[in-house]
Amino acid sequence: MLFHIKNFTRNVAVALAMSATLSVAQADDHDGQKRTADNARWKSECSACHVAYPPGMLPAESWRAIMSGLDKHFGSDASLDAASASEITAFLEKNASAKKYNASGKPLLRITETRSFKSEHSEVSTSVWKNPKVKSPANCGACHTKAESGDFNEDDVKIPK
Ligand code: HEC
Ligand code: HEC
Repeated sequence: MLFHIKNFTRNVAVALAMSATLSVAQADDHDGQKRTADNARWKSECSACHVAYPPGMLPAESWRAIMSGLDKHFGSDASLDAASASEITAFLEKNASAKKYNASGKPLLRITETRSFKSEHSEVSTSVWKNPKVKSPANCGACHTKAESGDFNEDDVKIPK
């Protein structure tokens, strides 16, 4: 019970902060594969467990869904204080992809489930994905040597042997 109340309070705080920043988050430049957008809090908080995935790789509705469920984030607890959460949410929304999903309604929570990801990786063979050095398709840095700086250019891909 206490858990729900705490969560509810946090969500309200996030929602309030978000509505304040939404108006500034309208204009967007979509940077696609190469990250140009930057934000210090996002960089430090969202690269603690994996690379800071570029905002341009998911639409705003996906980021909103991810940011409102950080306490149950892919099996881990990535909760943030309300101020950090709202700043990061606004940053992600502002730099999100303009692509929309068809049907289904539910926002995708994974870049690795998007059509762009699948087509960009259509030539990567099953044996590569199964390599223990890769671990997970979400482990971008296993193959993209500059993933940490937001650079996913194909010239810097090195498949682990
Ligand atoms: C406490 C660790 C932790 C923190 C902090 C964290 N994440 Fe994650 N995140 C994970 C784990 C674990 C996964 C699942 C990775 C996998 O499937 O291999 C994940 C996966 C993701 C994915 C899906 C990747 C894909 O395409 O499959 C996104 C998007 C994501 N995180 C965004 C964020 C954002 C945004 C933040 C900062 C607000 C953040 N994460 C902070 C642990 C964390
Ligand atoms: C198992 C290795 C591997 C992993 C893990 C991986 N990729 Fe890739 N990625 C590749 C290969 C191989 C290509 C295609 C390179 C080519 O076409 O020559 C590619 C291409 C791309 C491209 C297109 C690059 C271009 O210049 O057109 C993007 C963007 C990309 N990956 C993003 C990601 C992201 C984001 C992640 C993590 C969520 C990820 N990749 C995880 C191997 C990987």
